[in-house]
Amino acid sequence: MKVAIIYKSITGNTKLIAEEIKKELSSEEIVYFDEPKEAVEADVYFVGSWTDKGSCTPKIQNFLKSLANKKIAIFGTAGFGGSKEYYDIIFNNVKKNISESNEIIGYFYCQGKMPISIKEKYENMVKENPNNIKFKSIIDNFDNALNHPNEKDLRNVKDWISSIRDKF
Ligand SMILES: Cc1cc2nc3c(=O)[nH]c(=O)nc-3n(C[C@H](O)[C@H](O)[C@H](O)COP(=O)(O)O)c2cc1C
Repeated sequence: MKVAIIYKSITGNTKLIAEEIKKELSSEEIVYFDEPKEAVEADVYFVGSWTDKGSCTPKIQNFLKSLANKKIAIFGTAGFGGSKEYYDIIFNNVKKNISESNEIIGYFYCQGKMPISIKEKYENMVKENPNNIKFKSIIDNFDNALNHPNEKDLRNVKDWISSIRDKF
């Protein structure tokens, strides 16, 4: 079974998840582990991205569009959310790039810390709008994301791989 692990990660969160997947799949033939590239031939594709505007990055969108008749597992990290409902929304946006000839064998998301510049932006918004609860909760979420992906997230990756193992 040839496995490709393809991902986009700017600050390293999604890369950590990709590395954990690679570790878990050490008994398989990993033919590729890196950023998207054309003509990567495999049976199963683990495709990951950081979250941008509620979906995966355009490079990953294009890569997913190029796949046909493959088994695909999606993974990623997101700064906001932290709930299944939120990850389902992201996954459904990512899924729009996958043609029906493929089989989606599963998906995994967890939170990923964000750059401090994002916090500063929301802190300024709170200063300008001190009564806006929404901005305050975004800052709380920022702080919550700071230690992710953490050990528990990586254990969850392990469990996720076990749960989809019989599909490839
Ligand atoms: C420009 C920018 C846009 C972002 N947009 C979103 C978003 O729409 N939704 C979200 O949940 N997180 C968003 N984030 C947070 C990142 O997806 C998150 O921090 C992710 O873990 C980064 O992954 P990486 O370390 O692999 O690059 C954004 C971050 C940046 C810098």
